[in-house]
Amino acid sequence: MLRAAAGDAGRAYKQQLIDLLDITPGQTALDAGCGPGTDLAALAERVGRDGKVIGVDRAPAMLAKARERSAELPVVEIREGDVHALPVAAESVDRAKMDRVLMHVDDPAAALAQLHHVTRPGAVIGLVEPDWDTLVVDSEDLDTSRAFTRYTTGHVVRNATIGRSLARLADQGGFHILTVVTTTPVFRDFQEADHTLGLGRNMQQAIDGNHIDQQRGRRWFTDLSEGQFYASFTLITVICSR
Ligand SMILES: C[S@@+](CC[C@H](N)C(=O)[O-])C[C@H]1O[C@@H](n2cnc3c(N)ncnc32)[C@H](O)[C@@H]1O
Repeated sequence: MLRAAAGDAGRAYKQQLIDLLDITPGQTALDAGCGPGTDLAALAERVGRDGKVIGVDRAPAMLAKARERSAELPVVEIREGDVHALPVAAESVDRAKMDRVLMHVDDPAAALAQLHHVTRPGAVIGLVEPDWDTLVVDSEDLDTSRAFTRYTTGHVVRNATIGRSLARLADQGGFHILTVVTTTPVFRDFQEADHTLGLGRNMQQAIDGNHIDQQRGRRWFTDLSEGQFYASFTLITVICSR
């Protein structure tokens, strides 16, 4: 759900994240929760032939896709594992990124402690998470848009408001905060937003669970598909050092 990397805004914040990591040739970079391997090629390019990129994910389908994508990249190694117990040697990583993973995990503080464990002193770490309280969907029925956002934060995403807490959690995890920046992906296309934000799917769940009235929820969704569309939310990027 909430496939927030789609579209131009997705590409822009990822490029910014990798730029802010300030990777130099020969370094070891970790992509914790690498998903389908979207960022592995960019990391491989930065570390160069003498560097190393480790992608870790726990989902077999994601690992298969990441392996397929990085098959031609000899510096990339994909490992199956959990971010609560990273299969990576202590103090072996120079640069690490974790992009939209903490919002899903059981224990974000434990995952950050693992990142601390595997990174070297002086390493730079980039964290990105959304804050789903910032999800706004334009509709004449403002109450239902608000109810949809409340349902998303309360029932769809495990750690839905972790974005705003990211710098505090990283600080509590022993990292030094270098910078915090935000990005606001804007959706003007209904189909893209429906796919990325789960408008129809999550609204149906909200109706089925009696969180939103069926008639109102259906009308809200149908009206969104007609005419001008606007939705946005905020992604928070925290760059810190070990
Ligand atoms: C929204 S995707 C983001 C993928 C990737 N970071 C990106 O930016 O394209 C979240 C990923 O986190 C992974 N994930 C969630 N919880 C995890 C955990 N405890 N350990 C390892 N991976 C996890 C999922 O399998 C999924 O691939």
